[in-house]
Amino acid sequence: MSRQMGLLLFFSVLLLSSVFAQISYSIPEEMSKGSLVGNIAQDLGLDIKRFVSGKAKIYTRSSEEYIELNRDRGVLLVKERIDREALCTETELCALDFQIILENPMEFFTVTIQITDINDNAPTFEKGEMVFKISESVITGAKFVLHRAVDHDAGMNGVQNYELKPTDNFSLKLKSTADGHTNVQMVLQKPLDREKQEQINLVLTAVDGGEPQMSGTVQIVITVLDANDNAPVFTQQTYKAIVTENSAKGTVVATVTASDADDASNSKIHYSITNTQGNFRRIFDINTENGEVYLIGNIDFEKNKHFQIQIGANDDGGLTDSCKMIVEVQDVNDNKPEINIMSKSNVISEDAELNTVVTIINIEDLDSGENGNVKCFVNENIPFILKSSTSNFYSLVTDSELDRERASEYNITVSCSDEGVPSLSSSVTLTLQISDVNDNAPVFDRSLYEAYIVENNTPGLSIFTVKATDADWNQNARVSYILEDSSVNGVPVSSYVSVSADSGVIHAVRSLDYEQIKDFKFRVKAQDGGSPPLSSNVTVKILIQDQNDNPPQVLYPVQTGGSVVAEMVPRSADVGYLVTKVVAVDVDSGQNAWLSYKLQKATVTDKDAVKQRLTVIVEDNGQPSRSATVIVNVAVADSFPEVLSEFTDSPHDKEYNDTLTFYLVLALAVVSFLFITCLVGIISVKIYRWRQSRILYHSKLPVIPYYPPRYSDTLGTGTLQHVYNYEVCRTTDSRKSDCKFGTAASQNVLVMDPSSTGTMQRKQSDKNILDQPDSPIEDIG
Ligand SMILES: *[C@@H]1O[C@H](CO)[C@@H](O)[C@H](O)[C@H]1NC(C)=O
Ligand SMILES: *[C@@H]1O[C@H](CO)[C@@H](O)[C@H](O)[C@H]1NC(C)=O
Repeated sequence: MSRQMGLLLFFSVLLLSSVFAQISYSIPEEMSKGSLVGNIAQDLGLDIKRFVSGKAKIYTRSSEEYIELNRDRGVLLVKERIDREALCTETELCALDFQIILENPMEFFTVTIQITDINDNAPTFEKGEMVFKISESVITGAKFVLHRAVDHDAGMNGVQNYELKPTDNFSLKLKSTADGHTNVQMVLQKPLDREKQEQINLVLTAVDGGEPQMSGTVQIVITVLDANDNAPVFTQQTYKAIVTENSAKGTVVATVTASDADDASNSKIHYSITNTQGNFRRIFDINTENGEVYLIGNIDFEKNKHFQIQIGANDDGGLTDSCKMIVEVQDVNDNKPEINIMSKSNVISEDAELNTVVTIINIEDLDSGENGNVKCFVNENIPFILKSSTSNFYSLVTDSELDRERASEYNITVSCSDEGVPSLSSSVTLTLQISDVNDNAPVFDRSLYEAYIVENNTPGLSIFTVKATDADWNQNARVSYILEDSSVNGVPVSSYVSVSADSGVIHAVRSLDYEQIKDFKFRVKAQDGGSPPLSSNVTVKILIQDQNDNPPQVLYPVQTGGSVVAEMVPRSADVGYLVTKVVAVDVDSGQNAWLSYKLQKATVTDKDAVKQRLTVIVEDNGQPSRSATVIVNVAVADSFPEVLSEFTDSPHDKEYNDTLTFYLVLALAVVSFLFITCLVGIISVKIYRWRQSRILYHSKLPVIPYYPPRYSDTLGTGTLQHVYNYEVCRTTDSRKSDCKFGTAASQNVLVMDPSSTGTMQRKQSDKNILDQPDSPIEDIG
């Protein structure tokens, strides 16, 4: 400093010597008060005394006095702090000009004090920080103007340079302008990336050229603004999801997520389904905000087993990404097995062979896996089974023999169920008719019919009905009744009975006589209408019931027209003496032949009379009863002459007795004769037959003794039948009931001998009665 001052002094002296009135000093600014500026007295070449006497003083126009004059010492001192920057602003040359005035004599001197700069000011920036908002999309090379720093010092002490740190993205460019200023610019060297660094802090330093160097800094805060430079990115390229079919609408299938590194609206993502084909949009929708894929339609496994959904994400700036979502549909057992009848017979013959196919069915279940595994079965206890031929095809076949008579119709329920959980099933019922085959013969109600008919019936009377049933159906079960040919007593049975073909009613063709025939058998055939027809037959036995149509016949005593037979009772007879026996018979049977005897005149009026006439009434027990009367003559005498005399008392009686005796003898003779003749005849016939058994010869038995049924107990030759001529009613065709009247085929004639009450003759026209096995022979029990 002192050296510098010395230089200045030298310069001032030179100046003083040449110009006189002018003297210059140079001092730096900011010298402390009282500092010596210059020895002015000496430099002016004046004595100190002169200064004192001349009353030297400083004259200045400015109000501020920075410099004072010490007269006693003749020096200039710093009176006030001198700040060059305050004094002169930026002017390079800064000087204080004043005059020193002396009196006695008046002299003045111009003094210039040059103030030199010292580096007392650092560069400063107007604000503490500079704020920029720069889009990350700004290209490199972009320039940003920075504020200059201010340094009040001048010259080299002013701002000399700038520095920017860090220099990652920006560099500094300084450019001097024409007016000597410097434009400070920040140039983008490397693109910004908001996604990496959202805010950049830089420090700009300005330095001056002083010694020591001073600097000022400013913060540059750069906010990197977002540009839509990032597309959304899905977290996965392919999403997988499983959804069960029939899930409710609104079910979230899966959520896709995309992210966008950008900020704000540039990172706002909208999701959408981008498939253009298929029915995706009717089934799926996506929440545009959060990426939830949910159902809006029905998921049907049977229609779609999986979906491939294209999903896009786009931000507001229009950048996009896409991904796909594969949705597997899980089957739910929601389909029943379907039973389709492919072919079917409604009717099957009952003689169908085993394994005859009745129906073929096809099963379909749209579900998959277990849910579509179907098993079928038919109801039990039917003669059909289900056979599985190929997969999903079943045939219903006969398993055992069919019998329409047992079951004419089957309701076959085919049930199918799948193996899902829970299992679904369906069933179908087939109605199968069994058609008839004529495999059943008609069957009669009974194995043997017995019917009763009271004799003397009117021809055409219906006796009873046979009934046969046929288990078959319709025509195969239509039964016709046919009377089988046979003969009864050598007469075709058709002359006795007829059978109505449709109804099985058996009619009597003629009037029957119990005394002639007591029963007979025949066969009725029942035949169905099948082809070929089946038939069966039954034996019908008709029993003829007796009617009290015959009065008792008295055999003894023999009643003759004129002669009188009397029983002789000795006078000595005791009570209980058997007088005689009245013998009577009744050709009827049973009660009708049960005879009772009554003495009509029970009291003997004349006790002693030789001749007694008793009337005996013989009554049968029929309803109404029939009777016969017999008169028994009793002679009470000890000898036959007495009797005779008694009986021949009157000529009439005598005559009567004679005739009676005669007839008695005659009868006895005739009976004896007949008996012998018979005996001889029978013996000769037997012998003849024994001898010539090979020769066919039908002999006629001319006369056969007749014993009434209840009477003949010894020989057992049998009763003879009464055969009358009747007008008979019979039909030519058993199915019709027209009547034709004619005479009976057999020409049996009953010959009654009026002279004999006990004997009858019978002419048999065609057959020997003894050869008739069916002829009713009855013994009196
Ligand atoms: C079969 O079903 C029908 C109709 O339900 C019924 O009328 C008929 O009686 C049934 N048949 C058998 C044999 O069960
Ligand atoms: C009657 O039926 C029996 C079996 O019941 C049979 O043996 C016989 O041949 C049948 N008679 C006629 C004539 O059909």
